[in-house]
Amino acid sequence: MARNGKVQSPYGVEEWGNGYFAINPEGHLAVCPFRDHRSIDLVHVVHAAAREKLSAPYLVRFPQVLQTQLKDLYDCFDRARTEFEYGPGYRSIYPLKVNPLRPVVAALTAAGRPGAFGLEVGSKAELAIALAQPLPPGSWICINGFKDLALIEMATLAASKERKVIFVVERLREIPLVVQAFRRHGRAPQLGLRCRLHQRGSGRWEASGGETSKFGLGSSELLFATDSLREEGLLGHLEVLHFHIGSQITSVRRIKDAVKEAARIYAKLRARGIALTTLNVGGGLGIDYDGSRTPSDSSVNYTIEEFANNVVYTVKDVCDEEEVPLPELVSESGRALTAYHSLLITNCESRESDVPVDYAPEEGPPVAEAEEDPPPQLQEMEEIAREITVKNFREYYHDAVMTRADVLNLFGLGYLSLEQKARAEQDFYSVCRKALRHARQTGFVSDEFRALEKSFRAKYVTNFSVFHSVPDAWAIEQLFPVVPIHRLNETPSVQGVIVDLTCDSDGVIDKFVDVRDVKEVLELHASTPARPYLLAICLLGAYQDVMGDHHNLFGRPAELAVRYEPRGAQIEVLSRGESLEEMGRLAGYDPARLRGALNEATAAEPPTDGAGEARSSGLRDAYRRFWRCSSYLEGDIEPYRNLD
Ligand SMILES: Cc1ncc(COP(=O)(O)O)c(C=O)c1O
Repeated sequence: MARNGKVQSPYGVEEWGNGYFAINPEGHLAVCPFRDHRSIDLVHVVHAAAREKLSAPYLVRFPQVLQTQLKDLYDCFDRARTEFEYGPGYRSIYPLKVNPLRPVVAALTAAGRPGAFGLEVGSKAELAIALAQPLPPGSWICINGFKDLALIEMATLAASKERKVIFVVERLREIPLVVQAFRRHGRAPQLGLRCRLHQRGSGRWEASGGETSKFGLGSSELLFATDSLREEGLLGHLEVLHFHIGSQITSVRRIKDAVKEAARIYAKLRARGIALTTLNVGGGLGIDYDGSRTPSDSSVNYTIEEFANNVVYTVKDVCDEEEVPLPELVSESGRALTAYHSLLITNCESRESDVPVDYAPEEGPPVAEAEEDPPPQLQEMEEIAREITVKNFREYYHDAVMTRADVLNLFGLGYLSLEQKARAEQDFYSVCRKALRHARQTGFVSDEFRALEKSFRAKYVTNFSVFHSVPDAWAIEQLFPVVPIHRLNETPSVQGVIVDLTCDSDGVIDKFVDVRDVKEVLELHASTPARPYLLAICLLGAYQDVMGDHHNLFGRPAELAVRYEPRGAQIEVLSRGESLEEMGRLAGYDPARLRGALNEATAAEPPTDGAGEARSSGLRDAYRRFWRCSSYLEGDIEPYRNLD
């Protein structure tokens, strides 16, 4: 691991970090919000949180990362437009569904360029939020998704010169609703049509596009829609052609093909005299979560620059060929803007292992001293453990498995003591460890030893809920980088997986990013209760914040916003996390009533001794205080003040 005296990191930070993450000379994970030398040491964030009496887990947001990503997107389109002599502008419209939380929307809105920004909404709640945001002048609000009359009326009334609302028709049945609102109010929002492309995306969200997608209008529906709008006198409102073929498109080829098809549809509609002004290429701009730069599910084989070049070049090429005016370009990139901006810092509560990896007799439970005349099965196991070598490890391992079965049988029949069983187990684990080491030495680890390797993975019980904070890891096996935030200049000595606090065997992260493959173990450091060990689960900014559920009633962890300042990072506590009270209410309970019920029950209990009343009032007080606890494990904050 050590090269030139420097520990080589197994975490691939440089590969997936996209310049936003670095390991600093202290061996701490640092965030570089501007992708340059300016960095924020995450251990200092932990110190600051401890001063605020906050213990992990907490979600840390870096609003400046959002702004850097948005600037990057604008800059890439600027360069592409200059290079390909593309006159009309580019507009970035942020889809609220990706992360509608206030600090996220506020940071992006503040960095949006006047006349080149907007919000996309897909529901009534999102529209209610979007309409009252302080957007830069000339911003748009685009409405996608399924709609009802209430939503259409709201959009109609809200549309004005200052606030341009684009209503994107996704299904023909929305047109009569637009007409109804138009007749009632004598006005209408600007309109867009979402086309259903033949081209599909690639990766996990491939089904969002293609001919069988649940969204969008096929060719004949597009013609029908334009004719209906003409008949109703609404064709003059139609401005935008839109498509979206799915999120996280892993291959640049798919993007190019989709843009080509949509540009052709745009050109043909223009040729029919429909004065479309804008082509909206939707979302899909992906993130290289594993740093492999391949079209695998957790990666992408292109950069933002390449995305912008492909969109601009392809639209220009098609429109020039068809001799129609170039449209203004819009993208609804959400994941690409938000993914890097937040991470979860969480502490490892304890380490458990099915098989104790470094279990030495002096650390373990007392086992019988070597007996003078042990049963033959114990002798045999001891001999195997002593004599196993790289030449015989396969055969000796198999012998040990059979001997172990004999030992278990004898124990079941009452012929062995617990100490004797423990002794045989220790020798068996020693055989397993040696066999594994020898298997690795041979350079080929067969399936049998891979399975053994898996059972040897240490389990780091970690203070968070997969279902709440990293739902896509559970639901769709999305990979998120996991890295210790400290001790990165120490060689890790343990191979482990991360298990969460929920009473659910699915609450585990056991797939980890790797440039060449997907790893089934993560290299971790040995931890002790006296020395806290903290991990960051990174790249959580897109979709995870609002997709999480409350399985086991684990709520939102605390949240911090951290900004780089030349004189030291500025840290703001956004929320101290959801308490048990909030979780109780969520599940339909009124904590005050429950407190009343417990009080009544304790009052009715017959006093067992003179201290009965004092005990029940102690219980009542404790129960009241308990409701204010965090749903996560809370411990002593002191060790975090000086975390190194
Ligand atoms: C219509 C629409 N636009 C934009 C997006 C955002 O996509 P992404 O996060 O991949 O940029 C989505 C999400 O799937 C969407 O449905």
